[in-house]
Amino acid sequence: MKATLRIKLATVRVDTDRSLRDIIQALEGLQVAGAEEAGSARALIYELGTDTDADFAVIETQMRTEPLEHLFLVAPNPTPGILMRAIKMGVREFFSLPLNEDEIGAALARLRDAAPPPAADIAHKSGQVLHIIGSKGGVGTTTVAVNLAAALTAEHRGLKVALVDMNTLFGDIPLFLDLKSKFHWGEITKNINRLDDTFLTNILEPHSSGIKVLTSPAHLNGHTAPTPEIMDRLLGLMRTMFDFVIVDGGQSTDDTCLRVLQLSEAVLLVSVLSLPCLANTNKLLKSLTSLGYTSRDKIRVVINRYLKKSDVSLTDAEEGISQKPFWVVPNDYRSSMSAINQGKPLVDLAPRAAITESFRGMARALVPNEQPAPRKRGFFSLGARG
Ligand SMILES: Nc1ncnc2c1ncn2[C@@H]1O[C@H](COP(=O)(O)OP(=O)(O)OP(=O)(O)O)[C@@H](O)[C@H]1O
Ligand SMILES: [Mg+2]
Repeated sequence: MKATLRIKLATVRVDTDRSLRDIIQALEGLQVAGAEEAGSARALIYELGTDTDADFAVIETQMRTEPLEHLFLVAPNPTPGILMRAIKMGVREFFSLPLNEDEIGAALARLRDAAPPPAADIAHKSGQVLHIIGSKGGVGTTTVAVNLAAALTAEHRGLKVALVDMNTLFGDIPLFLDLKSKFHWGEITKNINRLDDTFLTNILEPHSSGIKVLTSPAHLNGHTAPTPEIMDRLLGLMRTMFDFVIVDGGQSTDDTCLRVLQLSEAVLLVSVLSLPCLANTNKLLKSLTSLGYTSRDKIRVVINRYLKKSDVSLTDAEEGISQKPFWVVPNDYRSSMSAINQGKPLVDLAPRAAITESFRGMARALVPNEQPAPRKRGFFSLGARG
């Protein structure tokens, strides 16, 4: 059964409000959104008053900032000018006064029957979400996210891999992959209720390696930030479309990133062999698990920029964080910097470098070759769909 579709009412006349409520209440699967539910409404019925300029400004803001997907307008005698503006705004239908209950009932029933199901109705398939977070800024979180994604597609042809930039402003992924993305996060947050696989496919930017990228806005212009609820819906859908969803989580521990952590099959916590960084790694390991966001066995520590002759050894690190690092990526400033400057993943830029082999090895560890897709979820059972 489909979930109830909520409709927000913004009326001028009491009679209009009453009639619309009666019509909606008579229709199964539709509901008027209460004041506290306004943020979950997917359609807006707006009655124009005498100041139509102000009305259109309000409508435009609401459609942009709320997850509203469909617009209906009510007006006594819409002039051709008003009709044109309404059409440009994507109005679905115009209801003139006095209201024709049958006509409105039929229009709303059509909306209900055509609306795609919300996230809760989408069957979850077996894609894996890998959340990459840094124990500090600049430790190589984006380097790991981008190059692991590229290594996964290089090691396992046919594997569907997506890369999501959770640094939701000025993220670096377009730079790392030389992408000029037409769309970004703002499209998702603005249109969350239109989100389905077709919509998402249009928003994601394809890279020549086959990776599909959700980039962050490159400039400030009032985009709504993703919320935990948006992540539920987005990652729920992405799991049905991809084998791996690699999330560059940066250093954020806001509610949205914590939700991604909860939704992830595995978390790669990137650190380097320095005392401040290892101290942070330790604090993160303890707090994220004691607060119940994830379990210890899901968090894997990646030591990046490893140099054999460093003051802090791998054994010191292991003792300090009470956990064996999952992977060690060698230090290679030259290759990693050239890769960024040329906008290429390491598998393309320096296919024979040790750092590239390290990322390939990490990809193989995540998807053991030639093994049937395991049924059980869990870090060590991460596998490609068959
Ligand atoms: N294994 C490595 N060896 C040498 N240099 C590296 C390595 N990994 C990353 N770097 C370098 O470290 C710098 C920071 O890398 P990156 O942007 O991936 O870090 P980040 O943690 O995502 O940073 P930010 O906090 O700004 O998002 C870059 O100049 C990159 O080339
Ligand atoms: Mg980064």
